Amino acid sequence: MKYELANKTIIITGANSGIGKAASIQLAQLGAHVVMMCRSAERGEQALQDVCAASKSDKVELILVDMSSQKSVRNAVNEFLGRHSRLDVIIHNAANFDHRQTKPVMTEDGLETVFATNHVNIALMTDLLLETLKKSAPSRIITVASKGLMTYPFLDIEFDNLKGEKKFSMQHAYYHSKLAQVMFTFDLAERLQGTGVTVNCVRVGNVAIPDTRLDHLPKWMLKMYEMKRKLALTPEKMAETYVWLAADPNLQNVTGGYWDAPNVPAKANKNGYNKETWKKLWNVTQVLAGN
Ligand SMILES: NC(=O)c1ccc[n+]([C@@H]2O[C@H](COP(=O)([O-])OP(=O)(O)OC[C@H]3O[C@@H](n4cnc5c(N)ncnc54)[C@H](OP(=O)(O)O)[C@@H]3O)[C@@H](O)[C@H]2O)c1
Repeated sequence: MKYELANKTIIITGANSGIGKAASIQLAQLGAHVVMMCRSAERGEQALQDVCAASKSDKVELILVDMSSQKSVRNAVNEFLGRHSRLDVIIHNAANFDHRQTKPVMTEDGLETVFATNHVNIALMTDLLLETLKKSAPSRIITVASKGLMTYPFLDIEFDNLKGEKKFSMQHAYYHSKLAQVMFTFDLAERLQGTGVTVNCVRVGNVAIPDTRLDHLPKWMLKMYEMKRKLALTPEKMAETYVWLAADPNLQNVTGGYWDAPNVPAKANKNGYNKETWKKLWNVTQVLAGN
């Protein structure tokens, strides 16, 4: 199905590589005004040129944001709101998964970086854009989790370890932050019932990542990634599910969903559906986001 996105304004974070870049191209090809939010000016500018060229669209722009910094998130939102009065879709695609990190690193806001980047500051950005999303309704919020959460069936929100003070590994911190995003999605979808703003989460599976993300890894891990890549989806294929969630008119009233490629419903781990945890996570996140 070819979707119509003319007059739609779409923000996508982490748009300079992988799935984010592929989705930017596909959305721009469908006529959307795409706002690519990227961390690096150099990588962002290059990606902006690539996306414009590949989509043959000039309705694409770049705003810089470091999702680990609340000041940067606030600045990026202000820049967006200075240029735009409507927002139809936001895709929270950027995420931190830096294999090199073995110890918790604190952000300038005093939060653990992975939890800040992949959960708290996404909630902050959503909150800062919520009035505009409501004014632009019907509008959509799309979050991104990971199929790898299936390998953590008993994982729950560790309210006593949000800064990695009790234990830390990159993998654990990453999946913990993605579980938080799943719960945030389900909870926010309920909170926004009746507003015309929907909230859905994509569960990304094994998708090829650029070599540049792997060049520091030990040989045995590179081998593992080589094998994984043989079974991986391309970023372009995965991006089709982002575009479906952003654009399909049949999804206008679908909210609180969890979705796999190719456009099929997925089931979260049991703990993901615990409404008591959603509530507690919401309150803690508001405090950590400085609201
Ligand atoms: N690939 C997979 O197998 C897989 C599996 C499960 C889930 N996912 C999820 O899919 C999404 C897209 O990942 P991908 O596969 O396309 O990988 P990717 O190419 O590495 O993309 C990640 C993007 O996030 C950006 N980012 C990281 N930290 C940031 C920060 N502090 N501020 C702003 N941007 C930041 C990166 O920017 P820089 O270039 O500046 O680093 C990059 O643009 C992520 O949410 C990821 O967790 C991927």
